[in-house]
Amino acid sequence: MGSRASFPIVPLSEDRVIMVTGANCGLGYQIAKWAAMMGATVILACRSVDKARAAMEKMHEEFKEEKTKGTSNMTEKSTLCLEFLKVDLGSFKSVAQFCEDFKKTGRPLHVLVCNAAKLLSVMKQSGLDCRIIFNSSKAERFASFDIENISFTGTKRNYPVHSCYNQSKLYQIMQMFAMSRRLTGTNITVNSLHPGIVETEIWRYSHSWMKRCWIFIARCFCLTRTPIYGATFAIDLVVNPKHAGVSGLY
Ligand SMILES: NC(=O)c1ccc[n+]([C@@H]2O[C@H](COP(=O)([O-])OP(=O)(O)OC[C@H]3O[C@@H](n4cnc5c(N)ncnc54)[C@H](OP(=O)(O)O)[C@@H]3O)[C@@H](O)[C@H]2O)c1
Repeated sequence: MGSRASFPIVPLSEDRVIMVTGANCGLGYQIAKWAAMMGATVILACRSVDKARAAMEKMHEEFKEEKTKGTSNMTEKSTLCLEFLKVDLGSFKSVAQFCEDFKKTGRPLHVLVCNAAKLLSVMKQSGLDCRIIFNSSKAERFASFDIENISFTGTKRNYPVHSCYNQSKLYQIMQMFAMSRRLTGTNITVNSLHPGIVETEIWRYSHSWMKRCWIFIARCFCLTRTPIYGATFAIDLVVNPKHAGVSGLY
């Protein structure tokens, strides 16, 4: 592994079910791939079938490469346990359908990376050490809590991408604290993290020249991270046995 990552590579059982939302690229891709390479069953919750299929193929190829390199503690199996479930997180209807689809599989759920609180009922019945992890961001520092405008009600044309993003990250952290408090004494822990400034596809949404200048400067000073380095913190939260029982941390 060299200096790329600091999460432990622990053998995970195929019975351990880990769901990662937005797993077809960026940080989600790395989290899903590494959890699967350690042996867990990983469900990629994505909105595009084609992108999810392509991501799963790429994960299998990279798994073979990792085996050739001799990376230790990876699953003995020749293929990864990957599954896909469609969800558009921008639509409550789709999220509700997705939750129903997952419940119909009859599977337990041990780790949920991102969010889908409606699956709490499944996690509560999935045994010890279940974890919810929010991929949050320090962008929350630029947000203000606006009770009058919790969700944006304007048109697509005047949608303030950056301020809505900052607010969503603040709400995510507030949700983490609230859920962690409510789930005290249960089998489920809830934590969130900031992955750093990571060179993923997220920057495709940045149209403002200020943001582009900022990224350029960050690159010049080597402040940006690769997707695997950015995903390290989340992977550690997903797999590291020492985090069992730890909850309510950002
Ligand atoms: N990159 C950073 O510097 C950074 C910093 C702090 C926090 N984060 C956080 O880390 C998380 C992952 O970001 P990333 O950098 O990996 O971004 P990314 O490369 O843009 O990946 C985002 C993933 O989310 C999926 N997605 C977006 N909207 C969706 C929807 N409505 N329904 C279902 N899936 C959807 C995307 O699917 P499609 O391919 O279909 O669009 C993609 O798989 C985000 O929560 C972000 O806020 C990132």
